[in-house]
Amino acid sequence: MSDEADVLFSITTKHLNTGLRGFPVGTCRTSRVDPQAGVSYVGYPIQRLADLDPEAVAYLLLERELPADDQLASFKADLKARAGIDPKVLELLRGLPREGHPMEWLVSGLVFLGMASKTGDYVEDARNLIAWAPELVAAIFRLRHGWGDPIPPKPDLGLIENFVHMLGVPGVDPGPLTRLLRTFYVLHMDHGGGNLSTFTGKAVASGAADMYTALTAAMCGLSGPLHGRANQDCLDFVRKVGSSEPAEVEAFVRKTLADGGKIYGFGHAVLRAEDPRATIQYGVGEQVCPDDPLFRTALTLRTVAVKVLKEFPKVSNPYPNVDAVSGSLLHACGLADSNYYTVLFGLSRITGIAAQIVDERVRARNGRGVPIYRPKYIAQDQDPR
Ligand code: MLT
Repeated sequence: MSDEADVLFSITTKHLNTGLRGFPVGTCRTSRVDPQAGVSYVGYPIQRLADLDPEAVAYLLLERELPADDQLASFKADLKARAGIDPKVLELLRGLPREGHPMEWLVSGLVFLGMASKTGDYVEDARNLIAWAPELVAAIFRLRHGWGDPIPPKPDLGLIENFVHMLGVPGVDPGPLTRLLRTFYVLHMDHGGGNLSTFTGKAVASGAADMYTALTAAMCGLSGPLHGRANQDCLDFVRKVGSSEPAEVEAFVRKTLADGGKIYGFGHAVLRAEDPRATIQYGVGEQVCPDDPLFRTALTLRTVAVKVLKEFPKVSNPYPNVDAVSGSLLHACGLADSNYYTVLFGLSRITGIAAQIVDERVRARNGRGVPIYRPKYIAQDQDPR
């Protein structure tokens, strides 16, 4: 166990009502977030994983080792054998109101999937969810957008190649979209144990709720604009900037701050340097859409926003986070509607959260699992009125 876990936290009243910010509450064996270096999965810096097969990285989180060739082949064969979600789930999705946000569709879809197909075995349900989430999310895109019926999976394809096939985005070249989504999927899988969606999922599972129920709760957490839905708001912000000229971008950033607005895509609860997941995505953008106007704006923000934000001593992290450029890339590769960006984040984060739930429920404390979450709240202002 690292020294970090030995640092005892002395809790005083000033720490109360701060969202548990920085409180050590448990151990995480899938990933670690270093304020300077960013996230690593099972000890591998994210930069070393970004271009691997997404299935290899999912295996890493589940099994805590990178697979050898034969292990990867059998994991892929296992996912392939699971392909095909219960048609009842697709029928239920058809009845959902289009006004509902795609995250509300995802949450509903997970409830439907659980009702139709849960086994109650965390390991089995984690694998099923990893195999089925792409089909569920692709169906959400198609049905809610009105692109047509869900497209049946082609399980011989890789997980993301199959997802792009099932999306069937009208008029879009699947090449760049697949290239982008393979990396996007790997980068968003896991981010330590304490991010809101992961923590929520593990808390719900600690009451012995099944994997689908826990993941549904986790995705409700992810849907908030201060958490996963920030990626949607980021693209809207980049659009509003409306220029990639440094002077114009700087004027926009300064005016936004003067008006009390937020610079979306910059800052992070834990990180104190440029998020390596952003760095990797800027590189992907140079490959797939170097001249795209929104990408160019995001690139200008990368330097200009940091310069301006550094002038504010209260800003603890003026650097780009994972959302700073992801929306611009998705837009350039054919997914123009930012309302769907958080379900793509969710598609990926389901893998990491499922892996953490398996670890906490099935493996932690010699298989006994972490007890039900029950932090203490200090009672206050409860005099009879
Ligand atoms: C992230 O991926 O950056 C998060 O889930 C936010 C966090 O770490 O709190």
